[in-house]
Amino acid sequence: MIVEERMRTFINSLDAGNTPFLDELERSALADDVPIVRKEMQSFIKTLLAIKKPQQILEVGTAVGFSTLLMCEYGREDLHITTIENYEKRIPIAKENFRRAGRESQITFLEGDAGAILKELSGPYDLIFMDAAKGQYIHWLPDVVRLLAPGGVLMSDNVLQEGELIESHYLVERRNRTIYKRMREYLFELKHHPQLTTSIIPLGDGVSLSVKEEL
Ligand SMILES: C[S@@+](CC[C@H](N)C(=O)[O-])C[C@H]1O[C@@H](n2cnc3c(N)ncnc32)[C@H](O)[C@@H]1O
Repeated sequence: MIVEERMRTFINSLDAGNTPFLDELERSALADDVPIVRKEMQSFIKTLLAIKKPQQILEVGTAVGFSTLLMCEYGREDLHITTIENYEKRIPIAKENFRRAGRESQITFLEGDAGAILKELSGPYDLIFMDAAKGQYIHWLPDVVRLLAPGGVLMSDNVLQEGELIESHYLVERRNRTIYKRMREYLFELKHHPQLTTSIIPLGDGVSLSVKEEL
């Protein structure tokens, strides 16, 4: 845990919630153990959308489409989201949710491995939301920076991994060691990349916000 539970509960208790459709989608996703953005992250995304007003968004990791639809709901009217998912079981559910929400025309849904798809995209995107395989972020970064518009924002979720990222190598389960090592490399790269200005924020499961330099 990164933030004390009582503090998290207090902050979330102030939240005004989302639309009934999104609240219901969140409930059903959580009931089915689908990992979706946490409450405090939802509020952060809504605030970022209000500040940055991105028109073209790229999301890596759709799951069942909760965060995609959250961004459609709280972003500008002409917003367009390209979102990528490779888990076959979740793809039809996400499609159905996009249809039920009446948002299909605003969403380009790409099915397959993000690593391969990112190479084919040309962008540019005003906002890129990274929320997929955490151990792959470092490998996807060159394409992600290429795809960002000048002044574009890269938001990466779960970058502090419940705080385990800073635990001793020996205290971490073997299967997580490589992921954490790669995530530490990713954060270092974000902080030292010549084209990015980055802040790492201990919110939710850790989020980093990077802004690409203007031309
Ligand atoms: C945390 S969930 C996304 C949650 C979603 N952004 C939300 O908040 O509603 C991560 C998703 O990324 C997908 N994923 C993981 N690795 C991927 C890859 N290499 N290519 C495409 N999707 C991937 C997983 O199947 C999973 O559904």
